[in-house]
Amino acid sequence: YGESIPLVDGEGNRITPDRLEEGEQLTVFPEPRPGIGDAPTLLVRFPETEYGGGTELAYTVDGYAAYSKICTHAGCTVSDREGETLVCPCHYGKFDPTNGAAVTGGPPPRPLPQLPITLASEGHLIATGDFDGHVGAGGE
Ligand code: FES
Repeated sequence: YGESIPLVDGEGNRITPDRLEEGEQLTVFPEPRPGIGDAPTLLVRFPETEYGGGTELAYTVDGYAAYSKICTHAGCTVSDREGETLVCPCHYGKFDPTNGAAVTGGPPPRPLPQLPITLASEGHLIATGDFDGHVGAGGE
C-alpha cells in the first residue's frame, strides 16, 4: 500500500474538500485499491470538535474521516444511517462515526477500521496508508 492513494467516488472522480457538507457521507474507494481488490469506504464529514477519542484525529482532515464500509460482523455493506449513526442492515449493527466507528449496537465485535486520509497538495483527498484494522469479519 503506497503513501498517497487518491480517494475516488463510484465514477472514478477524485474528492475535493468542498464535496461534502458537515453531516453528509459518501462511498469512496482508495485508488488503485492494491491488495484489497475492493475496499468500499465511507467518507464522513463532521465538525472537527465533534470527534471523540475513538477517532484517530491524525487520520482526519478538514472534518473528514474515512471508515471501512464492510461490517465487522459478517461482512455486509454498512449502507444505512440513523441520524449520525452508521447502520448495517443485515443484523442492525450500529457504529458511531464521530467516535472511531465504535460499535453502539448489534452484534459487530469491533469498530469499522479507519483509513488514514489527508489532503494532497493538488487539493484532493488521499489515503496515506492502509486501514488501521482488519477489514470485514474475522481478524482479532
Ligand atoms: Fe453487519 Fe451482521 S453483518 S450486523
